[in-house]
Amino acid sequence: MSVTEEKTTPKWFKDAVVYQIYPRSFLDTNGDGIGDLNGITEKLDYLNDGTPNSLGIDAIWITPLYPSPQYDFGYDVMDYRGVDPQYGTMEDFDRLLREAHKRGIRIIMDMVPNHTSHLHPWFLESRSSKDNPKRDWYIWRPRPKGRKYPNNWLGIFGGRAWEWDNKTKEYYYHTSVPEQPDLNWRNPQVREAILSDMAFWLDKGVDGYRLDVINWTMKDKELKDNPHCIGRRPYDMQRHLYDKDQQEAVDVAKAMRELTDRYKDKILVGEVALDHSDPREAARYLGENGDGLHATFNFSFTYSRFGAERFKAEVSAWEEAVGKRGWPTYVLSNHDEIRHISRYAKGRWTIPRARVLAAMLLTLRGTPFLYYGEEIGMRNLWPKRSEILDPLGKRYWPFHPGRDGERTPMQWNGSKNAGFSTGEPWLRVHPNFRKINVDIQDKDPNSLLNLYRRLIWIRKENSALREGSYKEYPNSPTGIFSFFRQTHEQHLFTALNFTKERKSFTIDQANAGKAKIIFSEPEFGTKSLDAKGFEIPPYGILILEM
Ligand code: GLC
Ligand code: CA
Repeated sequence: MSVTEEKTTPKWFKDAVVYQIYPRSFLDTNGDGIGDLNGITEKLDYLNDGTPNSLGIDAIWITPLYPSPQYDFGYDVMDYRGVDPQYGTMEDFDRLLREAHKRGIRIIMDMVPNHTSHLHPWFLESRSSKDNPKRDWYIWRPRPKGRKYPNNWLGIFGGRAWEWDNKTKEYYYHTSVPEQPDLNWRNPQVREAILSDMAFWLDKGVDGYRLDVINWTMKDKELKDNPHCIGRRPYDMQRHLYDKDQQEAVDVAKAMRELTDRYKDKILVGEVALDHSDPREAARYLGENGDGLHATFNFSFTYSRFGAERFKAEVSAWEEAVGKRGWPTYVLSNHDEIRHISRYAKGRWTIPRARVLAAMLLTLRGTPFLYYGEEIGMRNLWPKRSEILDPLGKRYWPFHPGRDGERTPMQWNGSKNAGFSTGEPWLRVHPNFRKINVDIQDKDPNSLLNLYRRLIWIRKENSALREGSYKEYPNSPTGIFSFFRQTHEQHLFTALNFTKERKSFTIDQANAGKAKIIFSEPEFGTKSLDAKGFEIPPYGILILEM
């Protein structure tokens, strides 16, 4: 095998549809109100039992399951090699991994390299004295003369990014909450320690990592002040030139890639958390010639308004930014953003909109990431102030209600607590669970769940949808997003109507008149296909083989 081939993204990942699970909220099997690993194992057949009766996803990304005091619901890790007893035991994890692999489902772990919990033994040591060997594993600074703080940096969840530690009379730095001190990635021992913790799970057989805020890992060497700018929250009133997004963070990504390249078929997907979507910045972590991460998230869809032209522009920008350096990914919803069905809700058009978006996500060139519950159209909950658990919401309510709303328990059925738990759920179940749940949608051929299933299985059966090139069709009318996906064997065309109007258009391709319908919604009369001219109903979906 040539070097370049070795460097390419594993085929399984290009072919995959990934399903993100927030373990706290998926299924509780012991009645303590908190989802657990056994809950995930129990639902593996729902995710993929090898038949089109199941969702058919190929990999799950589990958000942090490590021991944690849960100040940021698991993103504050106390031990990167363990399982939080709230979620189960290492035996439970091993069984989950085994059972998943048996079904061809890969497991992607979440690695949080930028910060640990303040209760991680490394930090306990680091804060114990100024000459502790681990002192320099975190970012400590004295109070400067004539100034209150070491610099003007702010915490992303509010307040200063510097926390005074009375014992040793110095500040430590935290990008998120004070219970999440940032590691000092300029210290080679930190790099070694995190890489060996990553190796621990790779050795166990997990299939890769999603990397939390990889772009925060490196800060300006001199900790220069950020310049000011206009913004809404204090945090947004600074241009974050120095507290993140440093070129050296790309080297961190490359070091992780070197580690995974020692194994076969492992993948790395980076979260590049930016203040505004900038696909070129997200693509930077792919390296220059396939030596960085295999993929990164581009959150432009989560910031975008609804509309064919908007999505089209974002796809082109992402296609261009990724180029041949890595592989694109697409995401509409995750644990940090308002669920897209709620973001784009529009009365009776809410479901049609969710359907056309599902078709977009599952026919584009790039690995789609689904967020648990998205397949049944779970809505965001708008919690009362007293219910808020997320540190972001606690600090910024009502300006930012926090992220609890997109993390509510999975709605399995219409029984008590939506079948999620027999106990008191850690977070309130959405009150619509009797109408919106897996059980009901499983039986309804026209449900959103059955649409996701069909599209995912269509993706599996059509190589062009997985690996084909992407080319936008330039002549579609306003409101239609249409594109070609092509391999040597197969040539597909997708048209998506993002409006509530019927649209007609023609495809100026020689063989368009003989195209075969792979999927259409609502059902199309085949007659209209003979003339190369197509009518596409409101929020209609059309997938053709040319
Ligand atoms: C990432 C996670 C988010 C977490 C933050 C701090 O953005 O997705 O949930 O709060 O990192 O770790
Ligand atoms: Ca439990």
